[in-house]
Amino acid sequence: MGDRTALEALTQRPPAFLRSAWPWRCVAYLVGSVVPGAAVALGVIAVGLAGPPAGLLLVPVLLALVVPLIARFERVRLRLVDTVPLPPVPDRRRREIGGAVMTVFAMWWIDLVMLGFTVGGPVLLILSPVVQPEAGPALGAVASVAGVLLLPVAAYTITAWGGARGAMARAVLAPAGSELGEVVRSRARLVDAFETERRRIERDLHDGAQQRLVALSMTLGLARLDVPDDSPTARLLDVAHDEARQALAELRELIRGVHSQVLTDRGLGAAIRDVAGRSPVPVDVDADELGRLPAPVEVTAYYVVSEALANVARHSGATRATVTARTTAGTLAVEVRDDGVGGADPARGTGLTGLADRLAVVAGRLSVSSPPGGPTLVRVEIPCAS
Ligand SMILES: Nc1ncnc2c1ncn2[C@@H]1O[C@H](COP(=O)(O)OP(=O)(O)OP(=O)(O)O)[C@@H](O)[C@H]1O
Ligand SMILES: [Mg+2]
Repeated sequence: MGDRTALEALTQRPPAFLRSAWPWRCVAYLVGSVVPGAAVALGVIAVGLAGPPAGLLLVPVLLALVVPLIARFERVRLRLVDTVPLPPVPDRRRREIGGAVMTVFAMWWIDLVMLGFTVGGPVLLILSPVVQPEAGPALGAVASVAGVLLLPVAAYTITAWGGARGAMARAVLAPAGSELGEVVRSRARLVDAFETERRRIERDLHDGAQQRLVALSMTLGLARLDVPDDSPTARLLDVAHDEARQALAELRELIRGVHSQVLTDRGLGAAIRDVAGRSPVPVDVDADELGRLPAPVEVTAYYVVSEALANVARHSGATRATVTARTTAGTLAVEVRDDGVGGADPARGTGLTGLADRLAVVAGRLSVSSPPGGPTLVRVEIPCAS
């Protein structure tokens, strides 16, 4: 019932399809080809009446008059077999004219021939007692029954052709994938912009704040050497030195969250072992023999493992987790399992959906299996042919 095009309607169960309006809509669509057909016939007659030299001059004039009208007509009648709104395309006018030229020169008569054969055949059979009374009542009755039995078949044929014609018209008016490509590209831009910003923050923290804290820590250490051990200033300096060291450690941790140096230097396997080693839940890692993969693949997989292990620690209550990563046939597959409570639901946070967005950019896939009671498995596949 919720079908949007004649082709989609074909996949309904037969009783539902045969009772639907789609076969009738397709008949109406194809009958519409009478309009361009009549225009062509009138044009041919006009050219014939005008005679050879004037007639030839008339052809471009008639085409210039008729084609824009047919273009509009085609756009309107497309709604009979395809109810999905057409996306705006920059060269819409040119595409409409192209579609109309296709109809005027080729498609209209094919539509009418198809209609004649598929609908005309069974109708003639049904009417044969009337059309051919000389064949006798018995033969006429058999022919009528055959005609009735052929009607459902005709419904399928006519819907298939109507649907195919709709798909052709849509392909001309709005090329497939134009919107989809744009969405993916803009997402890629977003992730690129994020990646650039991430590197900038990482460099700022590393070169700016971290170096200042190192310098502060050293100065405090030197100052401490100049002060006698038993003075109250020495105690304060010790405290300050300790604070500076802790701030430095926290900052290093923060930078590691923003960017993994291990990932850049030693690749995904080492980076996974590094994250796993810092997880409060014990993690078994099987990520040997990964080698180096394309940078976007490594970064994406690294984020997946980081987020999945953060989720294990925050939500799962698991006692153990496992990370496996391997490449087979040019595809990297990473799995993070835990033996916790399960019930992970991407709709409840931004972590998992954010991963899905990142994966879309590298043409990867994320699947989550997490029945209530556990266990939870997060699996990603990323093509990485390099
Ligand atoms: N390993 C897991 N075990 C059990 N529940 C999980 C697990 N991972 C995720 N969940 C559940 O699924 C929800 C969605 O996870 P998601 O990572 O998308 O968001 P989040 O971790 O809550 O927030 P954030 O946006 O900070 O990541 C979580 O709120 C949590 O309830
Ligand atoms: Mg999360």
